[in-house]
Amino acid sequence: MKVYLDNAATTPLDERVLEAMLPYMTDHFGNPSSTHQFGRKTKSAIETSRRAIAGALNVTPAEICFTSGGTEADNLAIRGSVNDLGCTRIITSALEHSAVIKTSAEMEKAGLAEVCMVNLKSDGHIDLEHLESLLNTDKKCLVSLMHGNNEIANLLPLKRVGELCKKYNAIFHSDTVQTMGHYAFDLQDIHVHFITGAAHKFHGPKGIGFLYINRQIHVSPIITGGGQEREQRGGTENLYGIVGLGKAIQLAYEHLEEHQEHIGGMKQYMIAQINEHIPGCEFNGDCRSEDSLYTVLNVTLPENPNSSMMLFLLDIDGVACSGGSACSSGASKGSHVLTALDAIKPNRTSLRFSFGRFTTREHIDFAVSKLKDLCAVKENAPGTKVRAR
Ligand SMILES: Cc1ncc(COP(=O)(O)O)c(C=O)c1O
Repeated sequence: MKVYLDNAATTPLDERVLEAMLPYMTDHFGNPSSTHQFGRKTKSAIETSRRAIAGALNVTPAEICFTSGGTEADNLAIRGSVNDLGCTRIITSALEHSAVIKTSAEMEKAGLAEVCMVNLKSDGHIDLEHLESLLNTDKKCLVSLMHGNNEIANLLPLKRVGELCKKYNAIFHSDTVQTMGHYAFDLQDIHVHFITGAAHKFHGPKGIGFLYINRQIHVSPIITGGGQEREQRGGTENLYGIVGLGKAIQLAYEHLEEHQEHIGGMKQYMIAQINEHIPGCEFNGDCRSEDSLYTVLNVTLPENPNSSMMLFLLDIDGVACSGGSACSSGASKGSHVLTALDAIKPNRTSLRFSFGRFTTREHIDFAVSKLKDLCAVKENAPGTKVRAR
């Protein structure tokens, strides 16, 4: 059996999404910028997708700019805020995705903005009082804080942070890559300038995403070339990716409650199974469901001699999960998120399990039985690790 519990890294493509994309890989191949009928056909497919996204977020289609994914969308928002909107202070956190942390650091290194890290509470939530004190400055601020943390699942109170940003006339960017397609957004009700999406996190194709850019602001492209995407991103559009993204978002929101119930149920089931079968585990972040992304669970296992090999051994046993974000999994360095929260425990491994529409109870039972087996090892000779059977 092979069990995939790494849906925060990426999700499998929904067959219906593939079906929607296929004609745009074969029959409909025109360049969307061409004015003849071949081009008009594909241009129209792009605009249909844009309307589907805009409809889901309650914004206008002109506020959606297609990108190659979440990383580029984060880059466009941060670079645009500094280069075009006059932000000289970037307020962010140590828990952000590297697309935000590294881009902000680059802005600081270039002498264009200072980066201020907001304090974190012990449960991984943002200290909103400290955020307000950082906003209380003469400098024009950009606040870049993610909605749902990809490692520990904590959710940011988007509306409250938006109100704080409004009070201090700050630009607000939220990386919503992990929550897009998983939570409803009504952007008429939230004061936010930029949010992001990546299709592959909700059963769409890889290499396509978008940035919502509030119509009151304009940023210059970071990829210059033709005038595509209303002069905000040069280059011939990723046509079939865009079509897939539109279909994926439509499916995600058409069946949102059903997905929330199913996926959230999988997470709760895994918590219960771990508690029952593997004593000594600790869950990282705030696990209360109203403040926690229902797709992600981060657990520190009890001390055991397999700790350093745990990911590898689980993989051999057919269970795919992660040691952190996709970028750090497999790498020897630990999670920057757990490090920032001082949650790295000596000789103990932390794993991220993340669930999707296609996760079943059988998958979780299988994963927990393998975990239990690997955690219950006993050493029969120095240097030899044997699984308990
Ligand atoms: C929170 C977050 N932001 C940004 C990204 C980057 O998205 P992409 O892989 O589409 O560039 C990811 C992907 O793991 C993510 O989890």
